[in-house]
Amino acid sequence: MAKSLRLFAFLCVTIFVQHTLNAQGEALFKSKCSSCHQIHKNGTGPMLSGARQRWIDAGEGDLITKWVQNNAALRASGASKRAAAVFKEYGGSQMSIFADLTDDQVNQILDYADAQPKEDPAAAKDGAADPNATQGGEEEEGGLGFVWLILAVLFIVIILSVGGVRRQLKVASTGDEKYNELTYWEEFKTTAWKYRGVTGLVGLVLTIAVLVVVFKSLYSINVMENYQPSQPVAFPHSRHAGENGIDCKYCHNSVTKSKHAGLPSVNVCMNCHKQINGDGKPFAGEIKKIYAAAGWDTKFGPAGGYRNTKGKPLVWNKVHVLPDHVYFNHSQHVVVGGVDCKQCHGDMTQMKETAKVQPIEELNKIEGNIKLTKATLTMGWCIECHGAKEVTVGDGKNAYYDEIHSRLKKNKALYRKYLTNDGKLTVNELGGWECAKCHY
Ligand code: HEC
Ligand code: HEC
Ligand code: HEC
Ligand code: HEC
Ligand code: HEC
Ligand code: HEC
Repeated sequence: MAKSLRLFAFLCVTIFVQHTLNAQGEALFKSKCSSCHQIHKNGTGPMLSGARQRWIDAGEGDLITKWVQNNAALRASGASKRAAAVFKEYGGSQMSIFADLTDDQVNQILDYADAQPKEDPAAAKDGAADPNATQGGEEEEGGLGFVWLILAVLFIVIILSVGGVRRQLKVASTGDEKYNELTYWEEFKTTAWKYRGVTGLVGLVLTIAVLVVVFKSLYSINVMENYQPSQPVAFPHSRHAGENGIDCKYCHNSVTKSKHAGLPSVNVCMNCHKQINGDGKPFAGEIKKIYAAAGWDTKFGPAGGYRNTKGKPLVWNKVHVLPDHVYFNHSQHVVVGGVDCKQCHGDMTQMKETAKVQPIEELNKIEGNIKLTKATLTMGWCIECHGAKEVTVGDGKNAYYDEIHSRLKKNKALYRKYLTNDGKLTVNELGGWECAKCHY
């Protein structure tokens, strides 16, 4: 019996480790792949469950990591038939490049995909009929939760049956019927005490598991930091917002007016790049991509001209991505809150490559930034800043805060509570820690 309990404890630990790896795979999947891939349905890209098997079947099981890391290079090398076939099947649409993913991380994503149970057929049918069905991942949450439940039940059953056997033995050897009168709970307690080593271990593992899951879901592991998807054109902010001093709003024109900052369309680029064609410069090829997107053809005389074809819009891959259940508003932060772009995005005027999510250590190096500890874009990050960032009221510079100020003045008790406690008024004191402010 003790043996089976030990086996059980071992199982628990194995599943716990497995679950942690899975959580990493899940987080990576959601942040990097779920915009194009679902687990059990084909979308922009093929379904990811069984993807590894498909490559193994093609005799190229070892190449799938290379594919995920750099599909273009793998295709160009001509070493993979599966790469060529799947590219053709999807009409030549380009998957992003993930050179920063290690082999282990790719495997974690694929493990996660393969570990997701298939939904029941009725739900799957509904999903297929609805093109707006939620994207992969979200719908398949908690995949392993039920395994824990089963294990817990199994554990109790083992304890109880151990107890049952003991009871029979006691009754048989002593002839004393009183052992039959013990309740199952009492039996459970005695047996759990007898095997207290194992019970303690299992209890510990279960507690840690629950804590880890709760902690992770709230504060998230920092997979978002350093995220830098590939972009259709190698656009350097340093050249534009830096050397040429172009205002952020010229390209992100809704940043002070709405929730979204907005990304520029190819017309915005053409305002300048009709003239700046990069001829003879190393980046001429990148400018050609802008022309192809705009349907602009330099063959029509030296000034160029638009072809009849419409071109293909530049589709920028989003760098900073929050889950759907989070509400974030740019104008509120930039205009009302007076927070500089640098605080959250780093110094874009120095950014020579395409944009990426700056890790918190980088953000903390920038002068004037509030120093934070939690990983960029996680809930902990938002919360920490809301507890640290002071808002100035009553200086006549901001009508929104002046209004709050005048209201506070009328309510003396509140005014004292907020201002004279520590002489500071932070975002959380205005409600910036309320769940409903950030969550739909
Ligand atoms: C911008 C959209 C996009 C993103 C993001 C994306 N993919 Fe893809 N993926 C595709 C497309 C499209 C294909 C089909 C092949 C092609 O057209 O190049 C594909 C194919 C694949 C395949 C081959 C499947 C098969 O059946 O052979 C794998 C594996 C894969 N992607 C994994 C990933 C992983 C892992 C991630 C995240 C790290 C990811 N993809 C992110 C678009 C994307
Ligand atoms: C000439 C146009 C232009 C100017 C000026 C410009 N940007 Fe951008 N910005 C872009 C383009 C194009 C992208 C998409 C490519 C990329 O991600 O690098 C982008 C992307 C971004 C992103 C990442 C968006 C995402 O998907 O999450 C941030 C953040 C950003 N810009 C901030 C700024 C800031 C801050 C400034 C001013 C200091 C600025 N930009 C000035 C064109 C511009
Ligand atoms: C308080 C932090 C914060 C500040 C300040 C901030 N941003 Fe953002 N930015 C974000 C977050 C968070 C996202 C992701 C939003 C989402 O996915 O809904 C984002 C996304 C973006 C994007 C991608 C497109 C979009 O609208 O989602 C651009 C471009 C951008 N920011 C530019 C700017 C510029 C330019 C400024 C300064 C004028 C600025 N941001 C100031 C946090 C910030
Ligand atoms: C306000 C004018 C202006 C706008 C708008 C503009 N650019 Fe530029 N861009 C420039 C200038 C100036 C240069 C530098 C040219 C040089 O050094 O010869 C440049 C250079 C570039 C380069 C080459 C940079 C390098 O060093 O590799 C790329 C790529 C580029 N721009 C892409 C874009 C894209 C994409 C857009 C639209 C989102 C855009 N530009 C919008 C003015 C602009
Ligand atoms: C660098 C500091 C900083 C970070 C990081 C930050 N915020 Fe804020 N946030 C502010 C400031 C300052 C205000 C005050 C503006 C106001 O009260 O309306 C604010 C206000 C808000 C409000 C309105 C609160 C209210 O009482 O009306 C919401 C919602 C919000 N932020 C969401 C977010 C989310 C979501 C994130 C993370 C993705 C985030 N913020 C990250 C500084 C920050
Ligand atoms: C200042 C904004 C803000 C406030 C206030 C806030 N959250 Fe969040 N929350 C976020 C952001 C941003 C995320 C997404 C983080 C991520 O993707 O890692 C998130 C994610 C979550 C998640 C999901 C975790 C996941 O992995 O998707 C839960 C659950 C959650 N929050 C619960 C709460 C509860 C409960 C409260 C109130 C006590 C609360 N939040 C208050 C910003 C906020």
